[in-house]
Amino acid sequence: MSLIKEKIDPEKLPKHVAIIMDGNGRWAKSRGEERTFGHKNALHAVRNAINACNEVDIPYLTLYTFSSENWKRPSDEVSTLMSLLTETLVEETESIFSKGLRLHVIGNLDRLAPIVKEQLQHVMDLTKDNTRGNLVLAISYGSQDEIINAVKNISNDVKNGNLEIENINEQLFESYLYTKNFPPVDLLIRTSGETRISNFLLWQIAYAELQFLDILWPDFTKDIFFQCIVNYQSKERRYGLTGDQITSSKF
Ligand code: IPE
Ligand code: IPE
Ligand code: MG
Repeated sequence: MSLIKEKIDPEKLPKHVAIIMDGNGRWAKSRGEERTFGHKNALHAVRNAINACNEVDIPYLTLYTFSSENWKRPSDEVSTLMSLLTETLVEETESIFSKGLRLHVIGNLDRLAPIVKEQLQHVMDLTKDNTRGNLVLAISYGSQDEIINAVKNISNDVKNGNLEIENINEQLFESYLYTKNFPPVDLLIRTSGETRISNFLLWQIAYAELQFLDILWPDFTKDIFFQCIVNYQSKERRYGLTGDQITSSKF
């Protein structure tokens, strides 16, 4: 039993945790290996995050798996990442299903090879009735792209007379995003020491707590995840109010 896990307050869990899984290349380089060695060694860290979330019953976990900008990497790295994604999905299907997780994918899937799309669709269909938790993979995902798409679709709906400009508000805008059925992100974690967002969930992290960790992604463990939750629970989320207002509303 993890001592850190015991410190988690089950009443104050985040509903949605998102992770920028960064640092695979540097992890490999520090061992004198090719970058792809880091990607291959990242799988157990992904499992650690999924299992930790599942153990404490956090309903949404979004993993930044491949960004729209990552397509610009050397083609051999891109193809290794795509093969790893497909192989991992095949290997992990049973485990995702048996944990009661439902798989979702967000991003511009048009750019993915048919085999990758088919495998993703297969796991999404298989797990569509699962209700214990939601695993969201951001693949070929770029937040600016997502927002521009939303603006285009909203504009079309206004043009076609299906939407009044007066009815455009935050809630409506959200319903045009890939994440329309998910709660906003409560906690965003990034590994590798970088303190940037890299075009991830810009709208959805408006009031998220941000945690930047110095470790590289392949070294991510369940206890590190639990520690992030403990740190998250020590924060007072004020949403623009004063501390006194927040304290008095608790009684
Ligand atoms: C994260 O690790 C994986 C992806 C972006 C697909 P990186 O490959 O970015 O590793 P670093 O940041 O170069 O070390
Ligand atoms: C963000 O990491 C994308 C993923 C983790 C999938 P990057 O390594 O691509 O981000 P930058 O280039 O350092 O900003
Ligand atoms: Mg990186």
